[in-house]
Formats: sequence, C-alpha cells, structure tokens
Amino acid sequence: MVIKQAELFVQEQLGSDKSGHDWWHIDRVRKMALELAGLEGADPFVCELAALLHDVADEKLNESKEAGLEKVDSWLSEHLNGEQDEPVISHIRSIISTMSYNGGSNPPMTTLEGKVVQDADRLDAIGAIGIARAFAYGGSKGRSMHEPGKDFTGISYRSEDNTTVHHFYEKLLKLKDLMNTEHARRLAQNRHLVMERFLEQFYKEWEAVDGRDA
Ligand code: ADP
Ligand code: NI
Repeated sequence: MVIKQAELFVQEQLGSDKSGHDWWHIDRVRKMALELAGLEGADPFVCELAALLHDVADEKLNESKEAGLEKVDSWLSEHLNGEQDEPVISHIRSIISTMSYNGGSNPPMTTLEGKVVQDADRLDAIGAIGIARAFAYGGSKGRSMHEPGKDFTGISYRSEDNTTVHHFYEKLLKLKDLMNTEHARRLAQNRHLVMERFLEQFYKEWEAVDGRDA
C-alpha cells in the first residue's frame, strides 16, 4: 500500500541524516499529523502522506528545492493513480513546497491539511524533543551550547557562530504563536513552558546557583 511504500522511499532518501531530518523526526511528524487530523477533521491520508514526504524536498538534501520537489512529484505520479488522484497529488505537492520555504517568509497554509502538517512539523521543534534536536543539531555543526552575554541578538555577524541557546530566542520560543490549529496551539503552550523551565534551570546550573532557592 502507498503509505508503506512512502515509508520505504523516505527511509532510503534520508539515509543516515543527522541534521534533524532523520527518520524518527518524520515518524513523529506523521503520528502528530494523524493525531491533529483526527481532532481537526482533516483528511488523514493527505496528512499522513504529506508528513512522510515533507523533508524529501528539503534543500539540505538536494541540489536545489526545485530538484527536491521534482523528486517528490515523480514519486507521487508513479505511486498514485494518475487522473483519479490528481487532486491529491497537487494538494500534497503544494503542502510540501510551501512548508519547505525557510525563514518564516513562507506564504500561509491555505488548506486544513497543510495547516495540520505544518503544525506537526513545528511541534517537533519545541518541547523536550525540540530541546534535544536543537542541541543535537548545534553539536553536529560544532556550535557552542551557550556563551554568556553573547547568546542574544547582535552577537555575531556570522549566523554559523551563534550558540544553540541563541536558537531558542531566534526561533524556538516564537513557534507557539505560529500554530495554525487550535489543538496544536494547546500542545505548543505546554511545550513552550517546558523550554522556558529548561532555560531557567540551565542558567541556574551554569552559575552554580540552583541550590540556593531549593
Ligand atoms: P524542519 O525542516 O524539520 O522544520 P530545520 O531543518 O529548520 O527543521 O531544523 C531541524 C532541527 O534542527 C530543528 O529541530 C531545529 O530547531 C534545529 N535547528 C535548526 N537550526 C538550528 C540552529 N541554528 N541551532 C540549533 N538547532 C537548530
Ligand atoms: Ni521536518
């Protein structure tokens, strides 16, 4: 069946990627997309397939975004039934191309399924898993966890020099306000609190003052 084939295709495409696009990220996004689809009344098939394929077109894994989208396109037309599934193919393609724009400059998602999959992807960047992913990513790029006094804006002309703690302020703590669906917003609030508590404790441990107010 198509979902199983998509899983195999994605596993083969992502290989052993360690930049945050590993198979388990995809699997978590798929599970969350299905959860949100059920709660929001979105089409589960479109959500699951778009979630599975959402990172195949990522620029980091392809020569260009166009080349990545081309790969997704040909997979979809080979594995779905041409004419009958044409609306599904173009829907999934449009979700993936909108999601893969970086830097917050992407146009808003127009369909419920797009909103669901984008929320599921963003939820995986926050909370306990989001914290773990950020430090794993930072480590893979050789970045410092934290440089006191230098984590906040204006610290560096080269974004590659930024710390992982900086990434929380630059992106992760902003995501809770960018959720599209009601249920994702609720989950995001809790995950946001987890990150706030984490940072609070992190700074206390850094200064060895965490014992003082116990
Ligand atoms: P996705 O395509 O899944 O939305 P990204 O490619 O933007 O995610 O990032 C993958 C993971 O790496 C995310 O968890 C993200 O927070 C993390 N990440 C991206 N950039 C940085 C950074 N500069 N510092 C730390 N973590 C980062
Ligand atoms: Ni992703």
